[in-house]
Amino acid sequence: MIFANLERLPPDPILGVTAAFRADPSPDRIDLGVGVYRDERGETPVPVAVRAAERALLDAQRTKTYVGPAGNVEFNERLFAMALGPLARELAPRTATIQTVGGCGALRLGAEIVRASEPDAVVHVSDPTWANHEPLLGTCGLRLARYPYYDAATHGVDYGRMREHLAGLPEGSVVLLHACCHNPTGADLDRTQWLDLAGLLESRRLVPFIDLAYQGFGDDLESDVAGLRLVAERVPQLLLAMSCSKNFGLYRERTGALAVVTARPEVAAAVATHQARTGRRMYSMPPDHGAAIVARLLGDDALRAAWTTELSAMVGRMKSLRALLADRLSARRPDRDWSWVTRHRGMFSLTGLDEAGVAALRSRHHVYVPPDGRINFAGVSDANVDRVADGLVDALG
Ligand code: LMR
Repeated sequence: MIFANLERLPPDPILGVTAAFRADPSPDRIDLGVGVYRDERGETPVPVAVRAAERALLDAQRTKTYVGPAGNVEFNERLFAMALGPLARELAPRTATIQTVGGCGALRLGAEIVRASEPDAVVHVSDPTWANHEPLLGTCGLRLARYPYYDAATHGVDYGRMREHLAGLPEGSVVLLHACCHNPTGADLDRTQWLDLAGLLESRRLVPFIDLAYQGFGDDLESDVAGLRLVAERVPQLLLAMSCSKNFGLYRERTGALAVVTARPEVAAAVATHQARTGRRMYSMPPDHGAAIVARLLGDDALRAAWTTELSAMVGRMKSLRALLADRLSARRPDRDWSWVTRHRGMFSLTGLDEAGVAALRSRHHVYVPPDGRINFAGVSDANVDRVADGLVDALG
């Protein structure tokens, strides 16, 4: 009998946290799980400038006919230009960009394009990486491997080991990198390391596949892509997965794009046909709404400036929450080094909690985090920071 052979699957490591949190009747429950930004009221707002762009779009829109396989071309160009800056114009002739179903769609489509070209290619991901990277990339049939990245003892990047490992990979290996706000660790490469890595990727002929899910969420729209730009200046080809979920607050609109920078314009033209065909075979054509909002906003100087200011306020809030929690943790355990809490960038940090610690945090303190011990700082607030600090100190032992 069809379907009867299917067993129930375990919950998704990140989305399952939301379900468990919702099922907890305690009034003290705290959700530090899924990576969404929250304001001081605990809400995930649509930025005012994004809503203004959306209103203007609704007034102007006269048709809902299909947008076409590559999606909204202005969106693709403007998002690529926001990521690459002045380099975008230079790279455009040898780049194929397609609108995707969020950043996840971009990652999956990128993996499909790699597989179409090099079925035996291996994608190397950081150890650790976002819990959905391996399922998303691996289920298209590509082989996956891990490179050393994080040093749990220092809460920083072990660049020496990472470099040595990458230097030993065969030519043509695909290396998945987080452009900024490394998920889940919070530990990013610094400028010197990016510069060195760019040279290494070029000299070893490795293919960077860069996940840009948090542009503007680390420090600002420019600083967060400095490493990406250093790499793009050096290597002849790369893949770039871009997401508008967090910075534009468009999570549920599933808005993203995949840019594939190739060595020559005729290669880009061929890649574009593969992108379109792959999308057609999976979901036919991308949705319009989120991309149309972003295209409009990025094409309007006043809206863009207003949105940039709102984005800085979100980042400022996350940094102040980091400082607040660091302060409360230091007050409780002054013997420990908590400097990583404010050194990390973006919404996440790995706390160092193991499975038992994660379970203790949940059962004794009603604080919900994914199984890898990652916390989302946007879930911390003035009202709950002491309970979060108590829970962490207790569960870390
Ligand atoms: C996260 O890491 O929590 C976010 O990227 C949301 C997700 O889909 O996992």
